[in-house]
Amino acid sequence: MGKLIFHGQSCTEIVASDGTRLLIDPFLTDNPQADVGREHFHDRLDYLLLTHGHYDHVADAWPLLEETDPTLIASFEIVAYAQEVLGYDKTHPMHIGGGYDFPFGRVKLTPALHGGQVAGKGSDGYTTVPAGLLLTLDGCGIYHAGDTGLTLDMGLLAGQVDVALLPIGDNFTMGPVDAALAVDLIKPRVVIPIHYDTWPLIAQDPESFRARVEPRAEVVVLRPGDEYEF
Ligand code: NI
Ligand code: MN
Repeated sequence: MGKLIFHGQSCTEIVASDGTRLLIDPFLTDNPQADVGREHFHDRLDYLLLTHGHYDHVADAWPLLEETDPTLIASFEIVAYAQEVLGYDKTHPMHIGGGYDFPFGRVKLTPALHGGQVAGKGSDGYTTVPAGLLLTLDGCGIYHAGDTGLTLDMGLLAGQVDVALLPIGDNFTMGPVDAALAVDLIKPRVVIPIHYDTWPLIAQDPESFRARVEPRAEVVVLRPGDEYEF
């Protein structure tokens, strides 16, 4: 059995049953909701995955590369930034629609409708399209939507997703109404709301989201530090 630990905003840690430790979109130091700092990952981090380059998704990624030596999995341009500007070569570039079988499971990049600027010193010219992540590990399909608006394309994920992490914060991404429509398209078994309450601008009530979604899918509300076993 694997587990998923939410650390606030979109930051999600995944520990596979074999102990492989993955981290998605690290935003810890400047995240008022984060329950841990980068030191939490200093004992082991095998893979660092990024959906896109915005500050609230990569702020702690660049130092974590140096501190924990993970394999960076991201779009080609974000990987190019890590290689060419940061001098970090332990990388695996991918792009939208492509999947790859890693030792821990499969990763596929999905479309996300959002901005693609890369936050970081010397990042000019690495702007790219954002992504979502479809992970298949320990027999479970996990969709981390990244930052995105509602798209009909999400319907193509139906049948592949057991657990969907969907933004509900509104303003920058889907809000609760559109995220509930996304559930109808994706048809996951479990939905975990993300990307809300970090700042007043994206304050939301996850219980009203639950009321919109259940019983079509089970809504699991994780506060930073909470974990979900899959
Ligand atoms: Ni963003
Ligand atoms: Mn964001």
